Amino acid sequence: MTAEEYGLFQELLKQCCGIVLGAEKQYLVKSRLATVLTEFQLKSFKDLLRLLNKPSIQSKKLMNRVIDAMTTNETYWFREKAHFMELQEVILPKLITNQTRKLRIWSAACSTGQETYSLSICIEQFLKQHHPTAIQDVDIIGTDISEQAIKVAKQAEYLEIAISRGLEKSVWPNFFDQIHAGYKLKTEISSRARFQQFNLLKPMAVLGQFDIIFCRNVFIYFSEQIKKDILQRMAEILKPKGVLFLGRTEVIPAEMQDFQTIDGRHCRYYQKTD
Ligand SMILES: C[S@@+](CC[C@H](N)C(=O)[O-])C[C@H]1O[C@@H](n2cnc3c(N)ncnc32)[C@H](O)[C@@H]1O
Repeated sequence: MTAEEYGLFQELLKQCCGIVLGAEKQYLVKSRLATVLTEFQLKSFKDLLRLLNKPSIQSKKLMNRVIDAMTTNETYWFREKAHFMELQEVILPKLITNQTRKLRIWSAACSTGQETYSLSICIEQFLKQHHPTAIQDVDIIGTDISEQAIKVAKQAEYLEIAISRGLEKSVWPNFFDQIHAGYKLKTEISSRARFQQFNLLKPMAVLGQFDIIFCRNVFIYFSEQIKKDILQRMAEILKPKGVLFLGRTEVIPAEMQDFQTIDGRHCRYYQKTD
């Protein structure tokens, strides 16, 4: 891969999914794309760039594979546990009243589904603590740009190594049934969540309005400008007083008026300003 080809690839990835690659990532990109070249029987990166820039079904498939190869899908159950404690103990009791028993949650950039299903487990525990009919209608939607990650999330099946990351063995039987190759989430947990491939750079209104958005550990890959644009559009689809959780190392730029910072009982999160 020449420096010029790498420059073109950097621009393409930024345009299509917002991911900003530094100059030092050239080696990583080359090794991650090597299998994609083989799979699509392409001889060089020049051929790959040419195909990606030509609108066709083949180039769409290729782009999906490139995105799968270039995204970092690291995730685990109840990652940043304080967020889930805040949700279950503080936010849900405030949000769910006799008048409001409907809840819409968006797990944006959900990777292979652990975040989305952790939210469903949280709801399950909230309902057990309160009343099974405390929430009448729950819709949890998990989205990610990676086609492969969404495929895994939809299956709701995980190997032991994956469920051991963040979940004590003693609670596994509460949420999973053992199957031949690992563990499958119980229907009462999985049926509350649905998944779709979605790029955060695209218009969000199609997803509807949300009470809660979890968008964690993805802004680190974007430029400040892209991050602000996404946050502004997220504010537009949050219901009044809706809340947003970001990853621990991610913050909302100080000059943005759309959100106010809440120092909660367990963690910091953001609430849409009136
Ligand atoms: C490190 S994972 C975070 C997963 C989960 N939110 C968590 O905190 O455990 C980042 C995810 O962001 C996704 N991603 C990257 N760019 C995206 C974009 N433009 N639109 C939607 N998802 C994107 C990646 O595919 C990846 O699965």
